[in-house]
Amino acid sequence: MPVQESLTEEARRILRANDRGGFTIPTAGLYPFQWLWDAGFTALGWMQFDEGRAWQELETLFLGQWPNGMLPHIVFHRPEPTYFPGPERWGVTRTPPTSAITQPPVVATFVRWMLEQAQNQAQAEAKARSLYPKMLAYHRWFKRERDPENTGLITVLHPWETGADNSPAWDEALARVEVDPALPPYIRRDTAHVDPTQRPHQSEYDRFLTLLEVYKRAGFDQLRLLRECPFRVASLLIDCVLHRANRDLLWLSRRLGFADEAEIEGWLEASQRGIESLWDEEAGLYFNRDLRSGAAIRVGVSASFLPLYAGTSSPQRALRLLRTLEGWARQVRYLVPSTDPYSPRFEPQRYWRGPVWAVVNYLIALGFADYGYPEMALRIRQDTLKLCEMTGFSEYFHPLTGQGLGGGTFSWTAAIYLAWGQAEGPLR
Ligand code: GLC
Repeated sequence: MPVQESLTEEARRILRANDRGGFTIPTAGLYPFQWLWDAGFTALGWMQFDEGRAWQELETLFLGQWPNGMLPHIVFHRPEPTYFPGPERWGVTRTPPTSAITQPPVVATFVRWMLEQAQNQAQAEAKARSLYPKMLAYHRWFKRERDPENTGLITVLHPWETGADNSPAWDEALARVEVDPALPPYIRRDTAHVDPTQRPHQSEYDRFLTLLEVYKRAGFDQLRLLRECPFRVASLLIDCVLHRANRDLLWLSRRLGFADEAEIEGWLEASQRGIESLWDEEAGLYFNRDLRSGAAIRVGVSASFLPLYAGTSSPQRALRLLRTLEGWARQVRYLVPSTDPYSPRFEPQRYWRGPVWAVVNYLIALGFADYGYPEMALRIRQDTLKLCEMTGFSEYFHPLTGQGLGGGTFSWTAAIYLAWGQAEGPLR
């Protein structure tokens, strides 16, 4: 499908309009700061027409990095009243203020891709070299503070860390979080921007905010939270994205002449094992895991296909995943729904409980292409571009009707259109 010229222009216009001078907001009103994985995808979009601006996106993101290496999921570069919970509620007294949790660590992978595709190689190499130690510190933080026992799986402490905030995969684990009776009162801002039927439920929100109080009481001490936090899961989005990011960090280490190979290889061995332990033979899918109970979370979600992107699957498992997704495709018009459309928990218009997300599609398609299934990769790419063409650069899309949902003029959707649309094949 040829990319439409006017839409390419429109996608660029969105990035420029959402540019706040060095960082790109996901969309005005609903998300007025810089988000971690959004910044990664957005940099790929900028890369198509302004390489300097693309590198700047990542440099600005790392201004929020904590001294312990953690890269927070939101950097509050400047005050904005339209969003809740803002910096006061997080209680992080740093400059710039940030949240206290992380998000899928896409950055090292995207830095590699940006370096590979840059027209300006001298600039790209200098930027990658200066980002490298920061990315390494971030990945060390994951290992040291979120997998100290080397299980091969990262402990995730908030649904927001997974990027898939209200996925049905977190229902039980979240329901076990007792709402803090002393939870300070608050007013949600999200439902003022978007139809509430497309946003998380109130009961989920109370628990999301209870977790913030838990972190503050623990002084953000991660090792203590590994024991005490009432929400602890292993998330395919985090583990698979981190695994691939470590592969690409290893590549960067060699390419740029750093000497961290043995350390990174050790992480990869562990996460290879960890991710493959999430396979479910009967379902033909990978499942997230509840780390408090140790049980598999038996609901299929779009992240269930990400071990292909990580590169940990065997060819046999990859074929099973293909068959499973072909089954899903018989239930919906557009791939990839964020929840198994056969599941009773599938809600086609509610955020991460059914709608299609362009950024996840990009990662899943890449995985299928890597495993020798270009037709499926192409199908996912075509669906994604078609959705943008039909209903604009929405935050997410209805998998049956294609309706654009959530926020409009969304940076990462526009960025995917740019990054993916320019490529010849199904890939980057
Ligand atoms: C929502 C999404 C998250 C994203 C953020 C900004 O919270 O669930 O993945 O990073 O919005 O777009």
